[in-house]
Amino acid sequence: MKRIGMLTSGGDCQALNAAMRGVVKCLTNSKEDVEIYGFLEGYRGLIYGNFRMLTGRDFSGILTKGGTILGSSRTPFKTIKDPDENGLDKIDAMKQNFYKLRLDCLVILGGNGTHKTANLLREEGLNVITLPKTIDNDLWGTDMTFGFQSAVDIATDAIDCIHTTAASHGRVFIVEVMGHKVGWLTLNAGMAGGADIILIPEIPYDIKKVVNKIEERNKNGSRFTILAVAEGAISKEDAKLSKKEYKEKMKNYKFPSVSYELADQILKKTGHEVRVTVPGHTQRGGSPCPYDRVFASRLGAEAGELILKGEYGFMVGYKNREVVKVPLEEVAGKLKMISPDASIVKEAKLLGISFGD
Ligand code: F6P
Repeated sequence: MKRIGMLTSGGDCQALNAAMRGVVKCLTNSKEDVEIYGFLEGYRGLIYGNFRMLTGRDFSGILTKGGTILGSSRTPFKTIKDPDENGLDKIDAMKQNFYKLRLDCLVILGGNGTHKTANLLREEGLNVITLPKTIDNDLWGTDMTFGFQSAVDIATDAIDCIHTTAASHGRVFIVEVMGHKVGWLTLNAGMAGGADIILIPEIPYDIKKVVNKIEERNKNGSRFTILAVAEGAISKEDAKLSKKEYKEKMKNYKFPSVSYELADQILKKTGHEVRVTVPGHTQRGGSPCPYDRVFASRLGAEAGELILKGEYGFMVGYKNREVVKVPLEEVAGKLKMISPDASIVKEAKLLGISFGD
């Protein structure tokens, strides 16, 4: 008999359900008896003992369903060791619930913050297996996270739609893409959508270079320019500021986001009309794309197999086209960023895309 707890934590993404289904299918297809405890709304469910007992049937028909059947919430790692408003020790509460239910293992699906807490629980002696979810693709130890390809599809669709209207009106358009502090989503959607300028946090931009590229396109007879801008894109000047100086500057920041600041600067420097489109959370919504359905199912199945073998303390990731198990201590607390020297950046530049650097 295996008693498994499962939870999804942090910002949701596509294919969370597909991944959980993969784990459960693997377990229920084995000879082992299984009991599944689904903790609701992420770590909150584990802290406060809020769970539902689930069977294989609960995971049927959810392969294509977006969101998460367990619900999710953000439980920031930086406050996880602080007692809650009623003085409850959250770590201790999670351990108590694990032991009370006599769980063999916790399956935790999440991104960066989630992995820090998962690793802490492992250090505290709990058996943990994790699965890498996030549209940002910024998790260390895996080449790919599920949710990412689905989000690339949606952001690319947004850029494709903007393309036709930008061409009709001869406008400069900025499409702001999610990704938190990294540019994976912007770079991939930008290239897929044929953006002329791609601005990502890993390569701080110079507004003069951005403007030069727009003017160069105009001179060559292109009436419009598309910029794919990461929500975390940063100018060269701002990148030089210390954390404290940057925080101070942001106190008086008058724009909703970096894209609007860029639009303002481009208008002032070129006189061109600029429009900003922010697809926002649509990038995390809807059904997983076929790639993510397959990918998340594979990772889920491998996680199920690790549980059957009693191998804990790993994230099931993907390296060099193989599903691999990565020790949790190697994953937690590290960000996977794009290297400015990466071949994909070089190739994008060869295609004539400007990074504003
Ligand atoms: O980590 C996923 C993500 O969608 C990021 O791309 C984005 O910065 C953030 O979550 C948005 O968070 P929230 O859903 O809490 O607004």
